[in-house]
Amino acid sequence: MRIVNASSENIAKAAEMLTSGQLVAFPTETVYGLGANACDDDAIRAVYKAKGRPSHNPLIIHVHNMAQAMQYAEFSDLAKNVASQFWPGPLTLVLKAKPDNGISELATAGLDTIAIRCPAHPVANAIIKRANLPIAAPSANASGSLSPTRPIHVKDSLGNNVPFIIADGACGIGLESTVLDLSCDKPALLRYGGVTEDDLEPVTGALGAHTDDNEKPRSPGQLSKHYAPRTPVRLNAVDVKKGEALLAFGSVKFMGVEGGGAAVDLPDNAIRNLSKSQDLHEAAVNLFSMLHELDQFDHVGIAVMNVPDVGIGKAINDRLFRATIK
Ligand code: TXA
Ligand code: MG
Repeated sequence: MRIVNASSENIAKAAEMLTSGQLVAFPTETVYGLGANACDDDAIRAVYKAKGRPSHNPLIIHVHNMAQAMQYAEFSDLAKNVASQFWPGPLTLVLKAKPDNGISELATAGLDTIAIRCPAHPVANAIIKRANLPIAAPSANASGSLSPTRPIHVKDSLGNNVPFIIADGACGIGLESTVLDLSCDKPALLRYGGVTEDDLEPVTGALGAHTDDNEKPRSPGQLSKHYAPRTPVRLNAVDVKKGEALLAFGSVKFMGVEGGGAAVDLPDNAIRNLSKSQDLHEAAVNLFSMLHELDQFDHVGIAVMNVPDVGIGKAINDRLFRATIK
């Protein structure tokens, strides 16, 4: 496995590798993706294998612009409108697939819909454009574990299962894209993410309830256990129990540690602050990387302070909740 910078030579090499059926990890504005040619059954099989991902959980198809997306999916007027306002960006649209669109049925898990997104990250966009292919790209981590927001997370999670990693620092949003289902009569949010309900509703009208039905999730990937560190996570903490690490949000001045002491005095390996100034966007950027960091030590648990459930805070709380499920 090689980790390389995002030079134009390496972007060209990545595009070549994708065209020849190999896997390439690359940065997007949300999280790092594990890319494969979406038309190539063998490449898609390799993605599921590298991640240890169940094959009934379909992949997001990445494109470099709207015109490319229209080759694979049916765009209603609403879908065109939404895409023109939010693309390129952290929004995935679930749309009716065009018949005979060339996309591997393994990538869409045999559904008659397709999840499609145009990433805003210039490196992702350049690779897709250069390859001139639809690129299936799930998050570049082993299935069920924390998503990667830095190249090192990809390396640690996938190791030699990914031959080539294009590195370009930390992801600017830090949480996966919002998944919006426009394939049914009523638009529905299937996954909270970088684009919020408040952003979408002026364009889409009221959104259907976010489904959390494990029996029959509308988005097969929304099974509860997901995004989990090894260390148990405890939410809405107002103190720190013995042996726990603290994932703070805002001031910890008045937070105590069981058995005596104050959270401010915790050793460096036992405390991270998502955002001292209570900025939810900063907290989103830090969420996965701070969980990754705290997970490297043998803490008995990670106590997480309350994060307000507004705006992108809903996406943060969704990931935190899933991190508590073993
Ligand atoms: O931000 C992102 O979306 C990242 C980057 C790399 O672009 N990708 C990502 O992919 O998060 P992944 O595979 O980790 O998540 C894809 C989600 C899953 O929850 C999956 O079930 C859902 O999209 N999905 C894919 N196709 C679908 C479909 N046809 N209908 C409903 N949900 C679908
Ligand atoms: Mg994922």
